[in-house]
Amino acid sequence: MTPASGSSALVDVTSYDLTRALWHCDQLECGKVLFFSHAPYDFSESDRAFLLSQKQTGSRFHKNISYRPTHDILKGADGNSADHERMHAIMRHFSGAVTSFISQFLAPYAGKMKLDFASFRPLEEQGRALPLHKRNDLLHVDAFPSRPTHGGRILRVFVNINPSVGRVWNVGEPFHDFLPRLMQKKRIGPATTGARRTLARLASKIGLPVPDRSPYDEFMLFLHDWLKESSDFQQNASRQKLVFPPGSAWMVYTDGVPHAAMSGQYALEQTFIIPVEALVTPQVSPYRVLEEGNYLSKSGAAA
Ligand code: CO
Repeated sequence: MTPASGSSALVDVTSYDLTRALWHCDQLECGKVLFFSHAPYDFSESDRAFLLSQKQTGSRFHKNISYRPTHDILKGADGNSADHERMHAIMRHFSGAVTSFISQFLAPYAGKMKLDFASFRPLEEQGRALPLHKRNDLLHVDAFPSRPTHGGRILRVFVNINPSVGRVWNVGEPFHDFLPRLMQKKRIGPATTGARRTLARLASKIGLPVPDRSPYDEFMLFLHDWLKESSDFQQNASRQKLVFPPGSAWMVYTDGVPHAAMSGQYALEQTFIIPVEALVTPQVSPYRVLEEGNYLSKSGAAA
């Protein structure tokens, strides 16, 4: 099965060749979605059946589950039941399998990428009642409020484990295309960066857990919200519809490719942070695009 769209945003790498790892990185960095018709690593049918059974059995796994691989912590589920242990083991295995695959498939990043969180998304995306800034069905680029990347890129690997229903996304033009145009039309950016940074420094001095964001992080958080708030962008930005069939997997830089999850239920996801110095085509990275355009305040740059 192939996605419903014969789009240029999507590159089918089901028959991948590990000697082309550099090209894989380049395609991703330039804003492509790399697609596999089936997950390119071991994921057992019994694990999948367990994940799918959770909602039906009325267990506690009703919301998104997150897994923090570096500390081996599962969040979003309480207790120490057998189900909890099983969920923990499945997420640990998934995260490890994706990570070892990525370190070969994207070999230029190996040893430099930072392992971030993984998640299980058991909720139907269509019709979720969420506040505007949390809505997944509006085109946006990702930025993490509590985990500043200081210019590092957000790479996400998804698997649709739904046995019968595709996961439907819209994706827009990559950052290096849309952002300069947007800034020419309407120069946007966080107005209070300086004050917020001072507050953050103060808060961290007295022991409050406030992340000290770089101007880059402030800009990306601002952009995430601005894109969701902009009816002009939501209505008029060019986009392609992608349908990820049951069992398929895909990876994309979600900080650079505007995306919206329109429908779908049951997906697994692993996030990696790729530092600027590990990128193979850094000139199209959001950090470099913002720096080149002089869109960040002069006071600070990515570390
Ligand atoms: Co997103």
